[in-house]
Amino acid sequence: MVTEYRHEPFTDFTIESNRQAFEAALEKVEKELGRHYDLVINGETVSTDNVITSKNPSNHEEVVGTVSKANQELAEKAIQSAAEAFKDWRNWEPESRADILFRAAAIVRRRKHEFSALLVKEAGKPWKEADADTAEAIDFMEYYAREMIRLKNGADVKSREGEKNRYIYTPMGVTVVIPPWNFAFAIMAGTTVAPIVTGNTVVLKPASNTPVVAAKFIEVLMEAGLPNGVVNYCPGSGSEVGDYLVEHPKTHLISFTGSREIGTRIYNKSSQVSPGQKWLKRAIIEMGGKDTVVVDKEADLDLAADAIAVSAFGFSGQKCSAGSRAVIHEDVYDEVLEKVIAITKEKTVGEPTSPDVYMGPVIDQASYDKIMNYIEIGKEEGRLAHGGNGEDKKGFFIEPTIFADVDPEARLMQEEIFGPVVAFSKAKDFDEAIEIANNTEYGLTGAVISNNRSHIEKAKRDFRVGNLYFNRNCTGAIVGYHPFGGFNMSGTDSKAGGPDYLTQHMLPKTISEML
Ligand code: SER
Repeated sequence: MVTEYRHEPFTDFTIESNRQAFEAALEKVEKELGRHYDLVINGETVSTDNVITSKNPSNHEEVVGTVSKANQELAEKAIQSAAEAFKDWRNWEPESRADILFRAAAIVRRRKHEFSALLVKEAGKPWKEADADTAEAIDFMEYYAREMIRLKNGADVKSREGEKNRYIYTPMGVTVVIPPWNFAFAIMAGTTVAPIVTGNTVVLKPASNTPVVAAKFIEVLMEAGLPNGVVNYCPGSGSEVGDYLVEHPKTHLISFTGSREIGTRIYNKSSQVSPGQKWLKRAIIEMGGKDTVVVDKEADLDLAADAIAVSAFGFSGQKCSAGSRAVIHEDVYDEVLEKVIAITKEKTVGEPTSPDVYMGPVIDQASYDKIMNYIEIGKEEGRLAHGGNGEDKKGFFIEPTIFADVDPEARLMQEEIFGPVVAFSKAKDFDEAIEIANNTEYGLTGAVISNNRSHIEKAKRDFRVGNLYFNRNCTGAIVGYHPFGGFNMSGTDSKAGGPDYLTQHMLPKTISEML
């Protein structure tokens, strides 16, 4: 029997032995820096002359590793390999497919700190965030494995006298997986294993900023016994390889998480029928957010300040769930702002060499430039209340930055920045606060800090987001507890880590037999 699902506990870094174990993992990862990883197609490694170089965003000099880079010819091979492997994999018992995920989860759990240490180096994650990323990767495997076992016999339908009806879920086919760099392990692993456990085969094009952790994960899946060709590792550029994979007539399902710009492009392309294509493609698209923490007049203001700071600055605001807007009742606005500034002053920024570093770097030069540009825009649109400086000589470091008195329609309140910048707006009452919270094109997460029961009920009805939280931060969804996905321009609301997720990777089939 499979035990009941419980999420992977986080590591307590106040315990000395945990700190030491993590330091040892960092040393191990440091010894492997600069290693090269090849493509994996049909279980065989393929080396190319062109490579993608993964660098530590804390330190321009440090190469985390290089990976081979596919062209269209190799992308074609990867698709053919996945299509061929599908013929057999689709017939595997759901439990047998789930067993590979259970085994892979166990392997990762044994090497947990090693994966987290790699995320510190490759994504610039602070220890706590890296540990949570690895825990979430384990959770996705444990949860989806159980979900497949739950769904293996399909769903109930009625039968009339003299007939026997069944409703089952069947695999779709070749799945192109294009994950982001910000949850370089969790989302990459989750979006890869969901199609696999449902009987599909995968071509994985990892994020170009974080391809090494994906290469390591492929090694784990192979070690866990995944047959050749069921997953193919195919790094490459979006315009050359990404488009080719998405447009390919043998691709049946596309699972993308990333920016709105690329997400809408893929959504559009997936609707085009290529010559030779025998089905309509399905696309699971998870994009950005412009998420709000609303603070009511009747609220615990310390909790509010904490929720705003954590939501805005965790992993330097590089989460689609980040609370980059704080909308505060005018009666408590000044007090909450002051409390958030006080908390933010305590936050340390730098290379995450110890668990005491709260914020690491942002991911790359393009992100750094974009965020610094928004800080300039913020100086025009609002009042700089804290931070505002950056430093990109050694790594891409930006101070946690707070803008006060920003108009709800201003760019800072409307556009996704994906960096450690939060804008404060004042609302005259709770109704107006919810109106402002809803005034973006996105609809991913939101938090309401309130002790007023009727306001809480109003927000449940009217605050249009996929993940709504009360009296806590708006980041940090847990697999199996807070299924995650957004409305509107945040995506297709696929709800990763939830009970409806796997069925989106399968075709339901009705079988009716006359007795
Ligand atoms: N699931 C993450 C969170 O909730 C974002 O991808 O923060």
